[in-house]
Amino acid sequence: MILKDWLKMEDFRKILDVATGVRTPFFVYDASTMRDKHRLLREGLNPQFEIFYALKSNPNIRVAQIMSQLGLGADVASSGELELAEIAGFLSEKISFAGPGKTEDELKIAIEKNLSFISIESIQELLLVHSIAQQLNKIACVGVRVNPARPLKSSGMIMGGESTQFGIDEEQLADFFRALKHLSHVQFKGLHVFAGSQILNHTVLLDSFENVMRIALMIKDSYGAKLDIINFGGGFGIPYFKNEKVLDIHAFSAGLKDLLSKYNFFGMFPGTRFFVEAGRYLVGESGYYVTKILYKKVSRGKTFLITDGGMNHHLAATGNLGQILQKNYHIKILNKIDEPCDEKVSIAGPLCTPLDILANNIMLPHASPGDLVCICNSGAYGYSASPLKFLSHHEPPEVVIE
Ligand SMILES: Cc1ncc(COP(=O)(O)O)c(C=O)c1O
Repeated sequence: MILKDWLKMEDFRKILDVATGVRTPFFVYDASTMRDKHRLLREGLNPQFEIFYALKSNPNIRVAQIMSQLGLGADVASSGELELAEIAGFLSEKISFAGPGKTEDELKIAIEKNLSFISIESIQELLLVHSIAQQLNKIACVGVRVNPARPLKSSGMIMGGESTQFGIDEEQLADFFRALKHLSHVQFKGLHVFAGSQILNHTVLLDSFENVMRIALMIKDSYGAKLDIINFGGGFGIPYFKNEKVLDIHAFSAGLKDLLSKYNFFGMFPGTRFFVEAGRYLVGESGYYVTKILYKKVSRGKTFLITDGGMNHHLAATGNLGQILQKNYHIKILNKIDEPCDEKVSIAGPLCTPLDILANNIMLPHASPGDLVCICNSGAYGYSASPLKFLSHHEPPEVVIE
């Protein structure tokens, strides 16, 4: 089941309209897709779960406002994102702050603003938060980010279950709770796990949720700690490449209901708030990156389209953001949507590095200088995860459409 049919002509016509008034290269984000994806995720989760938007996936202010207007919380990872979250209208009780390298200044701001949940990712950080809170004469709301003892069965990006900079190893939790006992200016709020990203298999996602349930029950039993908040993390993926299947959110939903009743989870944690975090699932498919073809050339039998934008704006499409092998994103020639794809080309951006290849040996309509290349699925980790200053080209405009 594909929620958004990439091939819908009217979507591409809308983007082509934008191109008449905006200089290339640019990003377009379609708000209706974001709302559809939010609805789908909302339906897939029990109403008790609060959804937090991971601002790192797309920190565009209008996108963030759409998310806050939908009633979501914000997952922030820096004081910059915290500032953005406030401007976008997220309330402090709906902002959680995670990241392995929070600075003293950032922690001070988070404590002053009474954030609902600061994820503690090391015992040193716990002690620092306590001393800052003491100086400010405040009580900091903290939770422990746990690096689970076992990894996810599979995920696009593994962020737990092995040696990692994220969180406190499950095996070291006794040290955390021992340290916590002596601290007067921190209030323990609960648990956070984020074990991986870009998960397309609902059974893997369910395995991750079950693991969080197991850890929550273990913390309750072994340390007698009260969990006001359990943040299950997420990892909800979207299909980027040929042959990737859409995450079956309905099967996930049914499986989650079974797990919740298997562990009588709501009964075990009455009054607890349950969070999930999502970035790419909410915004990834809403975004398109549009770049103009400047030149077409042949090098030793291989045809290249050279574009005015590349990995400086869209590192992920070049495969240099954690992919092992470059796979081509879903790409269209915006002004030749109806034409047959009968030419094999590679698309190279303007940077002085052989890494700047947006697509390799892809079949597209016959394209010429002036035509517009449109890279789909560019709403998450495009603009926000690219080396924008590399070669000092203009930063791309971003347009939000309905
Ligand atoms: C702690 C945390 N939460 C949420 C996310 C968002 O992940 P995604 O965009 O895959 O949903 C990330 C991504 O790295 C993360 O590190």
